[in-house]
Amino acid sequence: MITVLNVAGARPNFMKMAPVHKAMTESGRFRPIFVHTGQHYDDNMSQVFLDDFGLGEPDFELAVGSGTHAQQTAAVMQLIEPVIEEVKPDLLMVYGDVNSTIAAALTAVKLGIRVAHVEAGLRSFDRTMPEEINRILTDAISDFLFAPSSDGIDNLLREGVLEDRTFLVGNVMIDTLMAFRDRADDSKIRHQLGLNDGAYAVATLHRPSNVDDEESLARSVAALIGTAALTSTVLVAHPRTSARLISFGLQEALDKAGVRTIEPLGYINFLALLSKAGVVLTDSGGIQEETTVLGVPCITMRTTTERPVTISEGTNHLVGIDPTLAIKAVEEALGNHFEPRCPSLWDGFASKRIVEILGSL
Ligand code: UD1
Repeated sequence: MITVLNVAGARPNFMKMAPVHKAMTESGRFRPIFVHTGQHYDDNMSQVFLDDFGLGEPDFELAVGSGTHAQQTAAVMQLIEPVIEEVKPDLLMVYGDVNSTIAAALTAVKLGIRVAHVEAGLRSFDRTMPEEINRILTDAISDFLFAPSSDGIDNLLREGVLEDRTFLVGNVMIDTLMAFRDRADDSKIRHQLGLNDGAYAVATLHRPSNVDDEESLARSVAALIGTAALTSTVLVAHPRTSARLISFGLQEALDKAGVRTIEPLGYINFLALLSKAGVVLTDSGGIQEETTVLGVPCITMRTTTERPVTISEGTNHLVGIDPTLAIKAVEEALGNHFEPRCPSLWDGFASKRIVEILGSL
C-alpha cells in the first residue's frame, strides 16, 4: 500500500483533490489520508464541497483559519509537521496554488517526504500575484509535477525542472465537472433565482488586487452595473468581496442597479448556474477552465492568465479591470454562440492517469 497525505484547505482545492482521492481509493493500491488545513472554514467555502463530493470528514483538521500570508503559511507548516511525522507517508500531494499548497509541500520536502503537485507549471508571469509565488516555489521543490496542459510542461522545463519529473496528465477539475454535470442538471438554483437559461450573467470576484483596493473594486462594480443593464446579473460573492463592498460603500450601487449579490454556492449549484449562463465575468482561475469546457463565454477581469489555453482554444477573453472593455465584451458575448471545447486531455480521466503514474513508480 502506498500511503498518501492528500492536502487541501481552500475552496479551489477540493474539486481538484476529490477525483484523485477517489481514484486512489478505487485502485486498491493506495491509502489516501485527507488533511484539511482549514484555510477556508465557512460552511459555504468548505463543508458544502466535502458534502457535494462525498469526501467524508477529513482525517486531520489543522483549522489554521485566516491571517496574513506569513501567518497562514507558517500556521499550516507548524501544524502539518507533526501529522507528517506521525503518518510517515510515502508521498504528500498538494493541489493548485494557494498558501496551503506551498506550506505543506515545503514542510514535507524538508522531512524527506516526496511531494506531488497537481496543476503544476501554470504561470501568469505576474509576480505580484501571491498565487504565482506559490506556484513557482511549489514546482521547484516537488518530485512529481502533474501539468494540466502542455504550456505547463514548457514552463517547467524552461525553469530547469528535470524532464522525468514532469507529466502531462490533463485537468483534474474537468474530471470533477464531468462527474457532476448530471447532478447539476437536477439543481433548482436557476429556478430559485428566477433566471432563464442563456439569459443571465454570473459574476465572481475575489482577487485581492481587484477587491482590496477601493478604486479597482469601484471599476469592477461599474462593469457589473453596465452588465446588469444588458442582462440579469448575479454576483456570487466571496466573503472577502462582500466585506469590501460594504466597507467601501459600493454594495448599495449594485443593489440599485439590480445586480443580485448572493453568498458563495456549493459546487453543484454553482455548476448549474455557470452551465446555462449567457456570459460569465470573473477573476477566478478555475472558472476560466470550466467555462471553456461548458462553451460559455468568459470575460476575465485580469490583465494576465496562467491558463492561456482557455484563450487559444476556449471561450476566455481578458479585459483587465476596465469597465468599458468589460461591458463591450459582455455585449458581444451575449450575441455569440460558442461550442464547448475540451483542450487535449481535459477528458475526465486526468486523476486516473495520475494514479497510474504514481502506482507504477
Ligand atoms: C484563496 C487563495 C486564492 C483562491 C481563493 C479561492 C491564497 C494565496 N489565495 O484566497 O488563490 O483563488 O482562496 O477562494 O491562498 N474568509 C472567510 N471565510 C472563509 C475563508 C476566508 O470569511 O472560509 C475571508 C477572511 O476574511 C479572509 C479572507 O476571506 O481574511 C481571505 O481568505 P484567504 O484564505 O486569506 O484568501 P482568499 O482570498 O480566499
